[in-house]
Amino acid sequence: MSDEESEMRTALVTGASRGIGLAIAEELGRRGMRVLCVARSTESAGRAVAAVEAAGGVAEAYGCDVADAGAVAALGEEVLGKHGYVDTLVNNAGITRDNLFIRMDGSEWDEVLRTNLDSCFHMTRAFVRPMTRKRFGRILNISSVIGLTGNAGQANYAAAKAGMIGLTKSLAKELAARSITVNAVAPGFIETDMTSELGEETRGTILKLIPLKRMGTPADIASMVGYLSSPEAAYITGQVFTVDGGMVI
Ligand SMILES: NC(=O)c1ccc[n+]([C@@H]2O[C@H](COP(=O)([O-])OP(=O)(O)OC[C@H]3O[C@@H](n4cnc5c(N)ncnc54)[C@H](OP(=O)(O)O)[C@@H]3O)[C@@H](O)[C@H]2O)c1
Repeated sequence: MSDEESEMRTALVTGASRGIGLAIAEELGRRGMRVLCVARSTESAGRAVAAVEAAGGVAEAYGCDVADAGAVAALGEEVLGKHGYVDTLVNNAGITRDNLFIRMDGSEWDEVLRTNLDSCFHMTRAFVRPMTRKRFGRILNISSVIGLTGNAGQANYAAAKAGMIGLTKSLAKELAARSITVNAVAPGFIETDMTSELGEETRGTILKLIPLKRMGTPADIASMVGYLSSPEAAYITGQVFTVDGGMVI
């Protein structure tokens, strides 16, 4: 590792292989940060590494099931053993398992809560202690407008995303004394694999609710995360930033 590389800021992004997480990894790489890209497998995380490196950045791939507390603890040991400290943690990995509540079974509830919400608890526990020692950190939780509004057919997802907001606000209060900021970004309707399966009719209905008259792009979310991770955002904590083309006003 060159002297220049050892002085770089280090960000860890979960769910970096595709969609919003990939755009965040690229954005943080462009901003000169070393980006540790996490996805379910090292191979899929490798896609993000290739993208960051193609733009001249520095990145590493890690495979980890963020819903598995043991796997996250092992990831923490490996990463902190190598780098000592991660100053920016982006909890982005997430899934949907939509169903009307009356038909929703325990596994659909558990899988969504474990992947979207419990993962934030385990990841933050794994990486926060060195931030407190360094007295600097940026924690970004990618929630959703659904966590603010609720949605029929998404009780599990809405509960997880609202839980992330409560976690964000509480952590912001606990960690402020150590100059660690904790914020949530709540995307609206963003063009990724997660939304690609929606039918034309549903898309049309959703588009009518968006004043800016288009779906968002992963880059729309990444630029907000890039700003919040920067030194310029030092006085912003405990907030939820809705990036949704005006869908929820
Ligand atoms: N798209 C939207 O409209 C929208 C709106 C609001 C909020 N969001 C939120 O934004 C985040 C990213 O969404 P997206 O649309 O970019 O999703 P996506 O395209 O489906 O990508 C999901 C990412 O999460 C990773 N992932 C899923 N489960 C994981 C697990 N157990 N362990 C490790 N990684 C896991 C996937 O890794 P693999 O490639 O290895 O599977 C992938 O990188 C999610 O939290 C989502 O809830 C999205």
